[in-house]
Amino acid sequence: MTGTEAELQNIKQRFGIIGNAPMLNQAVRVAMQVAPTDMSVLITGESGSGKESFSKIIHNLSHRKHGPFTAINCGSIPEGTIDSELFGHEKGSFTGAHEARKGYFEVTNGGTIFLDEIGEMPLSTQARLLRVLEYGEFIKVGSSKVMKTDVRVVAATNVNLMNKVSEGRFREDLYYRLNSVPIFVPPLREREKDVELLFRKFATDFAEKYKVKPITLTEDAKTVLLKYRFPGNIRQLKNLVEQISVLSPDNKEINGATLAQYLPSASTLPAVIGAKTGPDISEREILYKVLFDLKKDVNEVKKMVLEVLSDPAQAQQILKNNTHLFEGIQETKIKSEPVVLNINPGQNQPAAEEEVQDISHEAEDDSLSIQKKEKELIVRALSKNRNKRKYAARDLGISERTLYRKIKEYDLEK
Ligand SMILES: Nc1ncnc2c1ncn2[C@@H]1O[C@H](COP(=O)(O)OP(=O)(O)OP(=O)(O)O)[C@@H](O)[C@H]1O
Ligand SMILES: [Mg+2]
Repeated sequence: MTGTEAELQNIKQRFGIIGNAPMLNQAVRVAMQVAPTDMSVLITGESGSGKESFSKIIHNLSHRKHGPFTAINCGSIPEGTIDSELFGHEKGSFTGAHEARKGYFEVTNGGTIFLDEIGEMPLSTQARLLRVLEYGEFIKVGSSKVMKTDVRVVAATNVNLMNKVSEGRFREDLYYRLNSVPIFVPPLREREKDVELLFRKFATDFAEKYKVKPITLTEDAKTVLLKYRFPGNIRQLKNLVEQISVLSPDNKEINGATLAQYLPSASTLPAVIGAKTGPDISEREILYKVLFDLKKDVNEVKKMVLEVLSDPAQAQQILKNNTHLFEGIQETKIKSEPVVLNINPGQNQPAAEEEVQDISHEAEDDSLSIQKKEKELIVRALSKNRNKRKYAARDLGISERTLYRKIKEYDLEK
């Protein structure tokens, strides 16, 4: 693989990677170069930055491409079963092990395993993984027989593994072993004009999906888009474009003020986030999701009010059509929650300023109310998914283990 410009563009097209930022191109080039070797690769980058495609590039450009590719999210497998899932177990090795089972490392022999959220892997499993990486050997749970396998490992993480190493939660030797070739996927805010390319791509995709005309941006909206920091990266941009495509069906050219309505105002967040030392990425994701949901509700309420104003005779019917907006109002006491959103910074300066001041006075209350919101969101996700944690975690965009921890923290076990 020589890595010419044409080859690079060809690979990006093949794997659906949009963008031309030098750091993104560099990451793709490293993936292309390392693919034909058997080296372990560690893909790092913030949540939603697009790490997953890189594991596919590496597998498909390697001599293992006709072998199996197994993607595993280490964060979604409970600690008690991860060893058995990865390495298999013998019949009767623990309660409920009625049959012997092959693990992913055995069935992926000759192929590639993608270990996503590697930072969530328990220490005991890390020891087993290290042995596979060093000697191609593993032992099933409940067995003493050493087995051989030939698996290439690609891992990904959106947390700083070095921090985990210093906290004693990740093995240093494993870290260096995995990190023999690092690939860094840059955050969206450092990809300059890529954000516009991606916006257009998603606008076209969602227009097709919802059978509407693609949304476009005015020049001032482009400036707003370029300035925004996108903590949730491409995943957040994609959700944003989907929301606007659905909620602004008659307004195809989006201006800066409208776009700003859909963006969680980052300026109101640091006071709350900073109040805790180093929130992990999953907690931050929850916060953004809470804000996103709130903003969506606010937009829907605004639309409803406009509808009622333009046709008061239909007020009852319009309210009836929107009952979902009033669900849970009795229990949640919305009035007492000072969750502040800078809804329309462009058009409503004085009000926005008041709101920002408010948050600095009430930073403590706000973090309490965010916790309350977080708890509420978790309860909702659990009940929506009939207490199936796996699906609730997926809805919330957090790992199952983080959800488990939160359930304990908020005492939600019933
Ligand atoms: N360069 C890109 N072009 C087009 N779509 C992209 C690109 N990068 C990511 N996406 C899309 O953005 C979304 C998020 O990407 P992905 O799931 O790979 O994130 P991630 O880095 O694995 O995040 P996490 O750490 O949260 O798992 C996906 O829907 C993916 O298809
Ligand atoms: Mg991922």
